Amino acid sequence: MIRVFETPQAAYAAAAWQWMRAALDTSPGLIGVATGTTTTPVHAVVVKLFGEASFDTEPIAICAVDDYIGIPAGHIASCGERVRAQLVRPLGLRAENAVLPDRFDGDAAGYEAEIARRGGIKMQMLGLGGDGHIGFNYPGTPLGTAAHRVPLPQTTRDTLARLYALPAEDMPSEGLTLGIRSIMMSGRIVVIATGSGKAEAVRAALRGPVTEKMPASVLQLHRDVLWLLDGAAAALL
Ligand code: F6R
Repeated sequence: MIRVFETPQAAYAAAAWQWMRAALDTSPGLIGVATGTTTTPVHAVVVKLFGEASFDTEPIAICAVDDYIGIPAGHIASCGERVRAQLVRPLGLRAENAVLPDRFDGDAAGYEAEIARRGGIKMQMLGLGGDGHIGFNYPGTPLGTAAHRVPLPQTTRDTLARLYALPAEDMPSEGLTLGIRSIMMSGRIVVIATGSGKAEAVRAALRGPVTEKMPASVLQLHRDVLWLLDGAAAALL
């Protein structure tokens, strides 16, 4: 299903309510989160809702689609740190309910096994790369991949360097990501994309062929995917 909202803020709020839906579902399984400029405001809305009328966060357990590896604890780019700052601490989640890659010391298979042990992912929220990447599954990633380690393309390092105003060589060079197969095993998938920079990827993912060249196109094969877009991201549909 595709929903198009007039403003990015309306898309973020809709995504936050999808997060709430998963949070209120007490069946076993994890909520999969992503970090980035698109999901950060979604998490802020979730925390705002919690602040206005607190809900029971005791049963909520989360995992993250990816993180950098080989960076010192507390590194400015760390996805785990951002997930803790954006969700774990504000919602008061228990530490053991934050199943995050940085607890696995680069052991991708171990991370995936722990997710399975915790009941799998009931809802995975994803951002979308301008080139169609999901998690750190960049164009060319075989569609059947499990969680794996991945060298980060220079473009990602440059984007991070720009974001944090630091030299690219201080940015991580390797990541750990859930694979496309891992993502496809989630019960539901919610993709959030805003802005004209995502328009071509949105078009190719939704209207183009399913191909490794456009990782998000594989989502056409999942039975329960919700795309939340603003007008700019949906402009080429
Ligand atoms: C981050 C992640 C990435 C981002 C994607 C979009 O955990 O998995 O795939 O979702 O790069 O990033 P933003 O939202 O910053 O445009």
